[in-house]
Amino acid sequence: MSQHLLLSLVILAISPIPGAFQDSALSPTQEEPEDLDCGRPEPSARIVGGSDAQPGTWPWQVSLHQGGGHICGGSLIAPSWVLSAAHCFVRNGTLEPAAEWSAVLGVHSQDGPLDGAHVRAVAAILVPDNYSTVELGADLALLRLAEPARLGPAVRPVCLPRASHRFAHGTACWATGWGDVQEADPLPLPWVLQEVELRLLGEAACQCLYSQPGPFNLTLQLLPGMLCAGYPEGRRDTCQGDSGGPLVCKEGGRWFQAGITSFGFGCGRRNRPGVFTAVASYEAWIQEQVMGSEPGPAFPIQPQEPQSGPREPTEENCTIALPECGKASRPGAWPWEAQVMVPGSRPCHGALVSESWVLAPASCFPDLISSGRPPRDLEAWRVRLPSRPRAERVARLVPHENASWEDASDLALLQLRAPVNLSAAPRPVCLPHPEHYFLPGSRCRLARWGRGEPAPGPSALLEAELLSGWWCHCLYGHQGAPVPLPGDPPLALCPAYQEEEEAGRCWNDSRWSLLCREEGTWFLAGIRDFSSDCLRPRAFFPLQTHGPWISHVTQGAYLEDQLAWDWGLEGEETEAQTCPTHTEHGACGLRPEAAPLGVLWPWLAEVHVAGDRVCTGILVAPGWVLAATHCVLRLGSTTVPYIEVYLGRAGASSLPQGHQVTSAPPLLCQTEGGSWVLMGMAIRGSRELFAAVGPEEAWISQTVGEAHFLPPSGSPYWPSEGNNLCPPDLARASGSPRAVLFLLLLTPLIQS
Ligand code: ARG
Repeated sequence: MSQHLLLSLVILAISPIPGAFQDSALSPTQEEPEDLDCGRPEPSARIVGGSDAQPGTWPWQVSLHQGGGHICGGSLIAPSWVLSAAHCFVRNGTLEPAAEWSAVLGVHSQDGPLDGAHVRAVAAILVPDNYSTVELGADLALLRLAEPARLGPAVRPVCLPRASHRFAHGTACWATGWGDVQEADPLPLPWVLQEVELRLLGEAACQCLYSQPGPFNLTLQLLPGMLCAGYPEGRRDTCQGDSGGPLVCKEGGRWFQAGITSFGFGCGRRNRPGVFTAVASYEAWIQEQVMGSEPGPAFPIQPQEPQSGPREPTEENCTIALPECGKASRPGAWPWEAQVMVPGSRPCHGALVSESWVLAPASCFPDLISSGRPPRDLEAWRVRLPSRPRAERVARLVPHENASWEDASDLALLQLRAPVNLSAAPRPVCLPHPEHYFLPGSRCRLARWGRGEPAPGPSALLEAELLSGWWCHCLYGHQGAPVPLPGDPPLALCPAYQEEEEAGRCWNDSRWSLLCREEGTWFLAGIRDFSSDCLRPRAFFPLQTHGPWISHVTQGAYLEDQLAWDWGLEGEETEAQTCPTHTEHGACGLRPEAAPLGVLWPWLAEVHVAGDRVCTGILVAPGWVLAATHCVLRLGSTTVPYIEVYLGRAGASSLPQGHQVTSAPPLLCQTEGGSWVLMGMAIRGSRELFAAVGPEEAWISQTVGEAHFLPPSGSPYWPSEGNNLCPPDLARASGSPRAVLFLLLLTPLIQS
């Protein structure tokens, strides 16, 4: 920007010229009657991440009411005209009757009697013919008031930009409104008008951000007539209820309305700036509608040459914001690990979720739950965070409203006296939004959670792989219960531990939280492993349902959009499914029992994989052994390792030192005729849940040729319900784990 320009800008900004249109630089045009001054608040003085506005700062701000309450914002552009968004008035393609609406002018706080404000009935609502939905643009509306507004210090019109007006990207502008302060978090009483400073984003920069897959892989195509404002890192934005309100930028001492709040993806999310209707693009339409009204809106000439902002990034070299939460230098060294120290009890483990808040189990603070009163000795509480020289003091303890000892809402939030500086450590963990879908196969780890020392064992470093929703849901859910689809909140998250499987035992301990990684970023996905009896897979309560509560209390926890979108096989996860018949221990529960010694199943095979793992195989034909894929292939690997098979000794011999047993037991059922039939193979992470072999008949017989399948009449005898055998409909319901079986072709091993 040149010196000269800077100078003239300063002069314009401080010259208190009422009716500046007489000024030669800002000559009036025919559309501008001289008596209508615009865009100047009388000198005096959320929206997400904003703050209370001073009364009188934004005198053109209008609140549009329907049924007695605020619905949308608007801006006064002329005594009888309010500009707003079309989507506020169009429901299912039809325009709502103007008579249902009223415009409240000059209002600051909407609590109680609207002091100094006045209300006008709406005589007509005009919407462009080509408006259909917000994503397709033209989201603007004009409201003609039944009676002109009374102009005064608190009620004045804003200036409108001409079609030729250019707002330089990077310009700091302001959005105002009474909308939600976060997603699904309404503005609290006394409902004071919120303001937030937003930067205009260039078209390419905004398109770049919106081309990043966001919630549910959604992207957005920006269209002409749209304008973006906000920040790549999010956190400041407009939100539900702000729609129709103005985005204004100050130029030459006047406020011009650059945009109308239209839509966004969520509110304040990373790489998801607010999208506004670009008012300048609609000069002609506005002029046409208001033609003949006296005085009409003012479209002053742009006060100075449009400045060229910083170089507009192109779509290829655009900068997206990366998550600020959930980075750890190595698994196990969690920079968000917080230890809450309460005098007289053992430390309680929780997680740092923002600069000032720690999430921990409410059951760590039993007095809180039993008395319902804030603790008296909060003064003496301390929180230890990684890399902080001294322990932090605690200002407040907020239990979850349903907090109790044993359930999914066993949560409390602790506010630190002073916010900590975030760096590599401490750093908050990322939290999932309610619609987060942790993909089956996600890599997860455990972190300490709650009070006391966990049982000794390598659990802290256990790597787990998340199981598909079906298995997890149906093991712990009810018969006939619908399996939640991706995007619906899950009831449980089930990780399967490779190490635990290999060691053939279970580390029974519930003092863990579940961290899952997406694109190198860790999310706190679940809390409190709730299967206490080693029935596997283990299940965690999902944290995502508590996202809204956490962000409401903390006003700044790091809720982060899903980062991984590899859906795998098309459609598999999105088919509606229900759980099959329920037994005592789950969808297909069998309590693991040690086999009586000396029993030798003649078809069992010991499959030795890569020299160090052993799993169970089944001899299905003279040259073929069937095994579970997960026991033959390593996590994530696709190459087949070196495999040896021993027959006629499974269960009889003790394994050589150093060999690990990878559990993958087969499920055998006996027919009335006495023959044993292979019904299923245990799924990964479980000894109790089986993938049915039946659906694989075609594949097995094609591959093996001489495998024996029972004719339909000879199907196994099914004991009545309640017995510990798999119900036959499991075979039909077992959609997901198709690739669970692996056939091994036997070749005689030359012993050297
Ligand atoms: N459509 C919303 C409303 O009706 C406005 C949403 C703005 N969202 C955003 N992320 N900027 O109030």
